[in-house]
Amino acid sequence: MSSVRPIHILISALLGAPLCSATPTFSRDVAPILYKHCVTCHHANDIAPMALITYQEVRPWAASIKEAVLSRKMPPWKADPHFGKWSNDPSLTAAEIETLKAWADGGKPEGDPKDLPAPPVFAEGWRAGTPDMIVPIPKFTLSAKGPDEYANITVPANLTEDRWVVSAELRPGNRKIVHHAHVFVVEEDKPKRTAKLDPAQEYGRWLHIKEGTLSFIRPDAPVINDGCAQDDNAVFPGVKEKDLGSLIASYLPGRAPDVYPEGTARLVPAGSKLNFQIHYSRATGKTEFDETSVGLRFAREPPKTIARRIDLSNHMFLIPANDPDHEVTECHTFQKDMYITSLTPHMHLRGKSMRIDVVYPDGRAQTLLNVPAYNFNWQITYRTAEPILIPKGTRMKIVAHFDNSRNNPLNPDPTHAVRWGSASETEMMDGWIEYVDASPAASVSSAGESARFER
Ligand code: HEC
Repeated sequence: MSSVRPIHILISALLGAPLCSATPTFSRDVAPILYKHCVTCHHANDIAPMALITYQEVRPWAASIKEAVLSRKMPPWKADPHFGKWSNDPSLTAAEIETLKAWADGGKPEGDPKDLPAPPVFAEGWRAGTPDMIVPIPKFTLSAKGPDEYANITVPANLTEDRWVVSAELRPGNRKIVHHAHVFVVEEDKPKRTAKLDPAQEYGRWLHIKEGTLSFIRPDAPVINDGCAQDDNAVFPGVKEKDLGSLIASYLPGRAPDVYPEGTARLVPAGSKLNFQIHYSRATGKTEFDETSVGLRFAREPPKTIARRIDLSNHMFLIPANDPDHEVTECHTFQKDMYITSLTPHMHLRGKSMRIDVVYPDGRAQTLLNVPAYNFNWQITYRTAEPILIPKGTRMKIVAHFDNSRNNPLNPDPTHAVRWGSASETEMMDGWIEYVDASPAASVSSAGESARFER
């Protein structure tokens, strides 16, 4: 009997020849996956370090690609798959991962170039479609030396009538230096608000120190790590702040352009200005120039409802030196029926994890989003596959953890306690929530007074 076995092996080795041709080829099997999931970043002049389009470009990366997809490092996506369904989830299926692995392990064959899918086309710059209006900043010069710079640049939008905007795409002029950026609408000729601040707003102003374009919490401000133990309808614990302005577009690593949900729009009133807040990094060590711009697309007809946003934050925490797992919370009870359309956790370099839970008025609890391994370099907006109904009285709890230990490779300094601030070396604890009102008619007619807690 034992003599049978070698023959058996021999036969299967011979049968191995046809099996070989079942090895995935670049042209037929690998390219379609890369074109669908990878090349938006992995092409010339975009954020990824190498292009992954042609066989010649991809072949040397086969082993790293296998590694990156098996570990789910690529494509970047941080949401725990157990909670929520997301329309922009780029994750590969198990079968796609298996194909990339089998190709890397199977000699990386090119296959027949006739099998290649049509080459990907990259819209010349504007990913959300050709804008109706482009508003650039004046040319900005970043000198070679110094710490990172946070520029605050306000330019007129030059609108003579109110406009409903359906998408606002922030396009960095010089990707080597623009780390991230935001654009806010600033309404003109609003009477100065300084006159009538209530005591809570006065207190909020006192808490914040401005240094040039940066702001920080006072070092002697009270420490509140458990924001949920406080008044949970403030912008941050203990403080009511008015008119935060209106953030219409963000550019962050890994973030798609701001396209508001179908049928919704944001108002940019006539005479508005646009305020660009840009974090410039001096990574190149040379004098650099930038002309960042925002491209707006206008609604062809009035929207059914307004795309809104609320930022829930805790500004009062203190993360002790060397603490590997410091918890900070913030809670909010919603005062109207609404639909959540996206969630964006925002922390800085010590951000470790964030979880967003709700308890509905009927007592049912649900985890909307869990990001167990947050990374500052991938600030992803999680767009819901279906809008999530949030009935009035629903309480949201955001739980963040920070790693201020030396084991956090991004940590600029584990030896100091860290508090709130706009610089990356300080910290933030924010959940940005995009939503629409559940009663659309009311929401459009109240457009003018939308800004109390929204930006
Ligand atoms: C949202 C943009 C984006 C997408 C989509 C993306 N990548 Fe990347 N990729 C990057 C960036 C930026 C880097 C370099 C920084 C880093 O390694 O985090 C990178 C790095 C890599 C690396 C080098 C990893 C290493 O360990 O050095 C590989 C390999 C890679 N990507 C493969 C892929 C593959 C395969 C896909 C699709 C399945 C993909 N990427 C999708 C942006 C992206």
